[in-house]
Amino acid sequence: MTDPPELRFDGRIAIVTGAGGGLGREHALLLAARGATVVVNDPAPVRAGVDRRPANSVVAEIVDAGGSAVANLDSVADRAGAANLVSNTISEFGRLDILINNAGILRDSTFHKMSDEQIDAVLDVHLRGAMWISRPAFAHMREQGYGRILVTTSAAGLFGNFGQANYCAAKAGLVGFARALAQEGRKKGVTANILAPVACTAMTEDILGPLAQRLDPALVAPVAAWLVHEDCALNGEILSAFGGRVARAFTAIGPGVFLDEPTIEAIRDNEARILAEDGYTVPRNAAGELGLLPTVAG
Ligand SMILES: NC(=O)c1ccc[n+]([C@@H]2O[C@H](COP(=O)([O-])OP(=O)(O)OC[C@H]3O[C@@H](n4cnc5c(N)ncnc54)[C@H](O)[C@@H]3O)[C@@H](O)[C@H]2O)c1
Repeated sequence: MTDPPELRFDGRIAIVTGAGGGLGREHALLLAARGATVVVNDPAPVRAGVDRRPANSVVAEIVDAGGSAVANLDSVADRAGAANLVSNTISEFGRLDILINNAGILRDSTFHKMSDEQIDAVLDVHLRGAMWISRPAFAHMREQGYGRILVTTSAAGLFGNFGQANYCAAKAGLVGFARALAQEGRKKGVTANILAPVACTAMTEDILGPLAQRLDPALVAPVAAWLVHEDCALNGEILSAFGGRVARAFTAIGPGVFLDEPTIEAIRDNEARILAEDGYTVPRNAAGELGLLPTVAG
């Protein structure tokens, strides 16, 4: 038996934000190895003992391996810089097919002690940054009739995490953001999906403990790459990926109860039925949830 042909990205132009290290670097290396031209975005400065900035190092790795890549050193949190990154990519390469919003930082603190700077910095990079760069990218992709956008959420955003209210809010916001793009892009050949990774990187190496050795970021990159491949028809989906495990995460609504008179007491008395998970529905959009009313009432 011959192996099936590998999935390729030849001719595709991709931007990966925060690709100077960690997960973004793995996404960039994999896309480039499969034929994409990758804009490696990362403003991180030169590190001690290294003679290049991280974005330039990743570009060198790609080029040394025979691939095609250029570096971009703008911060996604800088609205003008993000817009320039998209417009420069399109003027240099004639198109933009793939945007992986991966850039990220942590500014952890319990919420009652969290500073303005900690809130602003995290929302600026993760949530606003993804919006600043995705808006011109999305407009271009709609016009060209093709595009693949990926945002990076986190278990913290999906399920909550102690000491990360800023990060949880930003990461949950990205889910709603991508799902709106999924609906607005559907008829224009543009999809938007959501990756929820765990991996041992500079961001997490001090907190993962013994699990770290099982959480190579290279195990996550193929999931990102599939979600931005032209053959992938998923749209508005969340895929959780770590250590080789890949699973759909989804927002579901339980069967609920229908109460003619929803008094406070009736809510209390029906709490167990209201919380029941069996027989859940996964609405495709906000209107889809409203559509459950006659079903419940009937
Ligand atoms: N590592 C995990 O377990 C994990 C879990 C859930 C989500 N994530 C998310 O995955 C993404 C990648 O994280 P990672 O683990 O590879 O961390 P990382 O720290 O190794 O990489 C993040 C990269 O983003 C870059 N960056 C920071 N601010 C930027 C900005 N303003 N503009 C552009 N780039 C910027 C950094 O320089 C860095 O290279 C992040 O969005 C993170 O929140 C990671």
